[in-house]
Amino acid sequence: MEVLIRETTAEVSLLGAGMIARLLRSQPRCVLGLATGRTPLRLYEELIRLHREEGLKLAEVTTFNLDEYVGLSADHPRSYRHYMAENLFRHVDVDPRAAHVPDGCAADLRAHCLEYERAIVDAGGIDLQLLGIGSNGHIGFNEPTGSLRSRTWIKILSEKTLRDNASHFSALEEQPRHVVTMGIGTILETRHCLVLACGAAKSHAVKAMIEGPVSAMCPASALQMHPRTTVIVDRAAAARLDHPEHYEWIERNKLDWQQFA
Ligand code: PGA
Repeated sequence: MEVLIRETTAEVSLLGAGMIARLLRSQPRCVLGLATGRTPLRLYEELIRLHREEGLKLAEVTTFNLDEYVGLSADHPRSYRHYMAENLFRHVDVDPRAAHVPDGCAADLRAHCLEYERAIVDAGGIDLQLLGIGSNGHIGFNEPTGSLRSRTWIKILSEKTLRDNASHFSALEEQPRHVVTMGIGTILETRHCLVLACGAAKSHAVKAMIEGPVSAMCPASALQMHPRTTVIVDRAAAARLDHPEHYEWIERNKLDWQQFA
């Protein structure tokens, strides 16, 4: 794993956005895997700014989101389809037909999961997958003890994740316990994983992902088996790492062409 430590959340977001922008400029028809949650919000703001002010084009990209709540329709304010529309899609020139988010209301969810996997393959596979990490080490909505070879499927959220995300739902709203998520096996097939993590609440999960054993207890640790994963963390999320100086040494000693290649 490539581990890049930055002082602030803003720096993490800008570096991540810069990597995605670089890919979009060199490969305008690339396939992007996208994430939701609090972590990528600032990154999406920067992509929107680059689109408006610096001509960054997304017109030819295909996107696949990681996950969606079962039972929340596309126009539900807590659905991830709605999140993507509000925080990215409606502000840029992404072709809505090429912007895929799992459909949590599909009549046949199991068939839909298989179709989602097929659509990723038909698009040529995902060039870059953006990821956050849950405080319990989940990526997508792949919770601890789930198979490290799982494919897109219907999963049950852990109580920890429900608690972490409860603030997104009002007291009167029912928080879904089921989701459709890309599997760990699906994520491991992407060409480049870009994981962002900020804040002290992520520090245990970040340590387990980077320095812990590969274990289904921390699904993100499966990324140690991925051929190309970049992790960008702020100082607070990096606080429990045992070897920050090693990651900084590696970053300082990269050859020119390795700098965010
Ligand atoms: P967050 O969620 O960005 O809202 O912290 C990350 C995740 O659960 O993957």
